Amino acid sequence: IDHYAVYGNPVKHSKSPQIHAAFAEQTGQQLHYRAHKVELGRFAEVATQFFEHGGKGLNITVPFKLDAFEFADQLSGRARRAGAVNTLAIQEDGTIYGDNTDGVGLVRDIHDNLGWDMQDRRILVLGAGGAVRGILGPLLKQGPSHVLIANRTEEKAQKLAQQFEKLGKIAGGSYAGLASAQFDLIINGTSASMSGDLPPLPSHILSNDGCAYDMMYGAAPTPFMRWAAGETAWAVSDGLGMLVEQAAESFCIWRGVRPDTKPVIELIRQSLS
Ligand code: ATR
Repeated sequence: IDHYAVYGNPVKHSKSPQIHAAFAEQTGQQLHYRAHKVELGRFAEVATQFFEHGGKGLNITVPFKLDAFEFADQLSGRARRAGAVNTLAIQEDGTIYGDNTDGVGLVRDIHDNLGWDMQDRRILVLGAGGAVRGILGPLLKQGPSHVLIANRTEEKAQKLAQQFEKLGKIAGGSYAGLASAQFDLIINGTSASMSGDLPPLPSHILSNDGCAYDMMYGAAPTPFMRWAAGETAWAVSDGLGMLVEQAAESFCIWRGVRPDTKPVIELIRQSLS
């Protein structure tokens, strides 16, 4: 039986084993997938052992996506642009392929599952950390009229925007600079929700049919989702669908089969409450 795992720290609350077990059952694939906590600084060592012992593929979560990027022998274009790897796969010749499925996971959830069109829309992305870097490439491919990255540390947003300016119209700024702007879609990619915080957003920043997406998820709506509902957003979503979609893309890389994500999103949703 083929072995897979997710490496992270912490990793105890990871939904990935449940998601991949559901994909395997649905597609009739035989595989074993577990969550493994890796000590800080030991990623390369533990991953090397995993593949030497016949492991087929890994998912990588916080804080090892950069280590995985460096670990891979070959990189997909989107992993190179993201500067981070969340999926590793051993190839026929024994070399390790690194990919990043986070951005495509976000876009599939927003476009295919939620049905929010991003073409010619004004998009605001909150945060300029690793999570945001991973999604900018696939987001710009959707053809938004422009993307603005707002971040507490303005400089980080500007630097990040510069790195993606070849792919579309994108700029970086501060929250204070948002005062009179309007957007059709706001994506929260900050880690503020984890500490129950909300980035400082002005009122009336969402257009009439504006949507709000939090890349975080949980049993209850996040502070950002509650803020958006209060601003009478046209629609609001958390990031559970993104989680399942990025997993589906990884599963497809490993097994060559694309699972149906809808029932799995529902399954994981039920297990949250
Ligand atoms: P990740 O890999 O999850 O993106 P990260 O690289 O540490 O983690 O980035 C966290 C992001 O959330 C950053 O953009 C951070 O803003 P700064 O760059 O200014 O630090 C943002 N963030 C975290 N807590 C926040 C809060 N309470 N309000 C606003 N932004 C916050």
